[in-house]
Amino acid sequence: MLELNYKNVDAQVIGEDNGLNIEEEFNNYQEQIKHIIADLNKRKDKPGQWLRWMNLGYSEETIWYVKEFASMVEGRFENILVLGIGGSALGGIAVTEALLKPYWNLLTPEQRNNQPRIFFLDNIDPDTISSLLSILDLKNTLVNVITKSGSTAETMSQYMIVKDLLEKELGDDYRKNIVVTTDKNIGILKQLADQEGYKTFIIPDDVGGRFSVFSAVGLLPLALVGIDIDEITNGIKDMDLALKNLDIHENIAAQNALIHYLMDTKKGKNLSVMMPYSSRLKYISDWYVQLWAESLGKEYDKNGNKVNIGPTPIKALGVTDQHSQIQLYNEGPNNKVINFIRVKEFDTTLEIPKIFEYTGIGYLGGKTINDLMNAEADSTRVALADYQRPTVTITIPKINGYYIAQLLYMLEIQTAIAGELYNIDTFNQPGVEQAKNYTYALMGRSGYEDSAIQLQTKMASV
Ligand code: PA5
Repeated sequence: MLELNYKNVDAQVIGEDNGLNIEEEFNNYQEQIKHIIADLNKRKDKPGQWLRWMNLGYSEETIWYVKEFASMVEGRFENILVLGIGGSALGGIAVTEALLKPYWNLLTPEQRNNQPRIFFLDNIDPDTISSLLSILDLKNTLVNVITKSGSTAETMSQYMIVKDLLEKELGDDYRKNIVVTTDKNIGILKQLADQEGYKTFIIPDDVGGRFSVFSAVGLLPLALVGIDIDEITNGIKDMDLALKNLDIHENIAAQNALIHYLMDTKKGKNLSVMMPYSSRLKYISDWYVQLWAESLGKEYDKNGNKVNIGPTPIKALGVTDQHSQIQLYNEGPNNKVINFIRVKEFDTTLEIPKIFEYTGIGYLGGKTINDLMNAEADSTRVALADYQRPTVTITIPKINGYYIAQLLYMLEIQTAIAGELYNIDTFNQPGVEQAKNYTYALMGRSGYEDSAIQLQTKMASV
């Protein structure tokens, strides 16, 4: 199981001005937290609550179809190309980066157990798109187009470019190289997929983009590169069970949600840094940043009061950012909660050779890089405590599908609980929709003519 160490947010360690009397706070919020967890679990099956992501670990049917499709296409493609953005890409990127061997796309087919390479086009930079498309042999590429709304301009324009190229290269057969993941009703992509006859996976109702990693959005790309889906779902289910515990003393998602909420509202620390000590977990921070930012950054609370709240998430990487951001975190404004993620056991133990014994670097010889990584993480944590900066440490025993699933699911529940503490709608994103609508208007989408006129006026004045 995952562990959460919150000693370094306690006032006894970092002082009354910056720390919390944590046991007292747990007791103060015990009842409210109990109610929040019970209520989330009660509402999760109700339509319109956007909580169905809490059921994804148990979606036997989707899991079966994902595995079946992956085994059907096994050995047929050299590459998987995922088209998607935001919640339709970040989960897949985070989990493949964590679970596949590092530098996967550079390995030989044998080193990859004959599984395909995987590429995510999660942006619309013309240079990177055309460069990637010129590298990939499209005949041997399975393209997974992912969009919940079925109409996001970035993803749809990528799809149009890729479909055109595929058709030119493969003629009518191009359809076999496209698989779609989208909503069953809304959006243009579902209609096109039906017309064109693409294999389609459905994103269940009431599962928002940033909570969709364990739907076909994330599971399909994972299965297509040979990642064990059962290991993932076992991790979710075990964590789900643990997080059903109504007692805050036993529930790590509730603990970290409350810590962040109180640090923001009582101590003015509204920045949340996610800093894994593992390069393989680097993109978990990107995923967390979206989850935390889009879920908790809101203009209004549930009662319609204008609140403009939300802790700002920041990504960092241990040890790399010790040589970049830590100076600011130690000595700059004391306005952050730093989340370390530590890995107890790396897959590899890498020894530093005993050379240059009689020089200034001789002390490193005979140790391992693992020792160095751990020493640096420990020293950074202690140094931050010396400067009275709050940190929490999430420890995972190993990097595997089971624990990565636990970590992501725990962060999802933590976000949902934090949203309730802030009394906001965690699951909408009016700020994202606003910009999407402006883009549609600027690009001439029909139905957006009035917005286009208003926008032209606004653009002229700003
Ligand atoms: O979390 C969200 O809802 C957003 O970040 C979406 O995932 C993102 O905007 C992409 O949307 P869609 O999946 O509809 O293309």
